[in-house]
Amino acid sequence: MNITYYGHSCFGVEIGGKHLLFDPFITPNSLAKNIDAATVKADYILITHGHDDHIADAVSIAKRTGAAVVCNSEIAAWLEKQGVANMHPMNIGGKKSFDFGFVKCVNAVHSSGLPDGSYGGHPMGFVIESNEKNFYYAGDTALTYDMKLIGNYRSIDFAFLPIGDNFTMGIDNAIIATEFINCSDIIGMHYNTFDPIKIDKEEAGHKFKRAGKSLTLLEIGETINK
Ligand code: NI
Ligand code: MN
Repeated sequence: MNITYYGHSCFGVEIGGKHLLFDPFITPNSLAKNIDAATVKADYILITHGHDDHIADAVSIAKRTGAAVVCNSEIAAWLEKQGVANMHPMNIGGKKSFDFGFVKCVNAVHSSGLPDGSYGGHPMGFVIESNEKNFYYAGDTALTYDMKLIGNYRSIDFAFLPIGDNFTMGIDNAIIATEFINCSDIIGMHYNTFDPIKIDKEEAGHKFKRAGKSLTLLEIGETINK
């Protein structure tokens, strides 16, 4: 399973030759200026909520690739108005089989307005189960006891968690989240893109290490294999 970081909370994950793209926000992100959104691969685009820093490039990438967009019904309806044709609406609690594995939508504690002010439904996270590995992509969320439902009922190999604080949980709460989801292998996201979410990467790494957990902070454009 190859994982490529496109900045902020945007990751490409390749599972069995299928390309999943999470929360595309590339062209407005000055830190990701070396990433060309027009060449990013996608068979599926998974969107956690309607905020611009998670959806900015979704319309253009969906139109170019024809990728199926997995998101809540409200965001799917908004994308349809923007001319996107291929959506797979889901909602929290729902699980669905795709050709790469299963997607289960889980709760996120956040908000979800769309860029033009339209209602964006409820924000969510995704649990992906595949023949290769299982992982949790939290989206934007506070630490919540609902994460225990993820850790108690399935085995998570690694997780993408927000660590930038201010709009989402920060490093200390992300460490608590590792206990709730019963997974110690974390890829950090939603940090450093904007002033209010600037973090000290070294300190973050030390805090995780002291807690006996692993925090991976990828360089933008970097690909790792899991
Ligand atoms: Ni948000
Ligand atoms: Mn955000």
